[in-house]
Amino acid sequence: MESNRNKLIELLSSSNDKYVSGQLLSEKLNISRSAIWKHMRELEKDGYTIEGVSRKGYRIIHFPDKVSENTLQWGLHTSWIGKSIIHRESTSTTQEIAHQAARDGAANGAVVIADEQTKGKGRMNRQWHSSKGTGIWMSLILRPDIPPNLAPQLTLLTATVLADVFASYVNVQPKIKWPNDLLIHDKKTAGILTEMQAEQDQIQYVVIGIGINVNQETDEIPDDIKHKATSLAIESGQNSNIKDLIQQILMTFERAYDTYMTNGFQTVKQKWEHYGYRIGERLLIKTLRDEWYAKFIGIGEDGALLIQGNNNRIEQIYSAEIEWFEEAGDV
Ligand code: BTN
Repeated sequence: MESNRNKLIELLSSSNDKYVSGQLLSEKLNISRSAIWKHMRELEKDGYTIEGVSRKGYRIIHFPDKVSENTLQWGLHTSWIGKSIIHRESTSTTQEIAHQAARDGAANGAVVIADEQTKGKGRMNRQWHSSKGTGIWMSLILRPDIPPNLAPQLTLLTATVLADVFASYVNVQPKIKWPNDLLIHDKKTAGILTEMQAEQDQIQYVVIGIGINVNQETDEIPDDIKHKATSLAIESGQNSNIKDLIQQILMTFERAYDTYMTNGFQTVKQKWEHYGYRIGERLLIKTLRDEWYAKFIGIGEDGALLIQGNNNRIEQIYSAEIEWFEEAGDV
């Protein structure tokens, strides 16, 4: 059913402005004229405007901005990512749907997207506000052929992809705050939650959850996080088309992932450090046992924070609260 609809869109789209006869569509899809007509009605519900002229046929005169499996796939020039898209208007969390789909055998590159999440999850069991139609709430299912200990590299890669897309398509200057928060003007715009199912030395699948505040106005940012959260619209002064942004993210992701799989982590590391928030500055590092100052010099191969202490020794930090020197009290 869905694939017939996609074929129908493809056929109509590839003929550009020309009409395609109902007879031809019915032959190519091997379904009846009345089935074609039903698909047309469904496409109109998805926001397509389709013109039907007797004895000439059909043509699409407007593609919708609304997010749906069909609209996302149209214009998505990728080889493997987004070939399967699960779209929900509302769901608890796309992470759960993605885990279930992965357990059921979803392919590498399958994508789950919702217009709204009622139980959006952030890192460290925090809540993630995901209001209807204002942001991107999506989970990518990946089946990378890498050892489980390298999975954090995928989170860093994802952060660089978001930074690249924000810089090129939204015209803002993003920073990545270790480990993977996207900041604009020091406030968080997007976050990444990576979850993995693995055996000792083999990844079964990874779910990368991406949450982006896109078109919220200031008064739509919840009061409790207003001091530290923002949206692309607030920072750029203009709304973005959510469907286009998702497509850009998926296309940029595929390129970055393929390069990473071929060439390794070096390009990701360079990119991450290019966008890295306050690299070269002094940090206050707080662990359960200790706290001390050191200079933030970059990230390690495994995503660890690289710091240089007063003795010039370089250390790797995997888990800590960090504060920048002049930011006492505000983590
Ligand atoms: C963070 O704490 O910074 C990570 C936030 C990740 C939010 C995204 S939205 C899509 C996916 N579904 C969820 O419930 N969480 C992730």
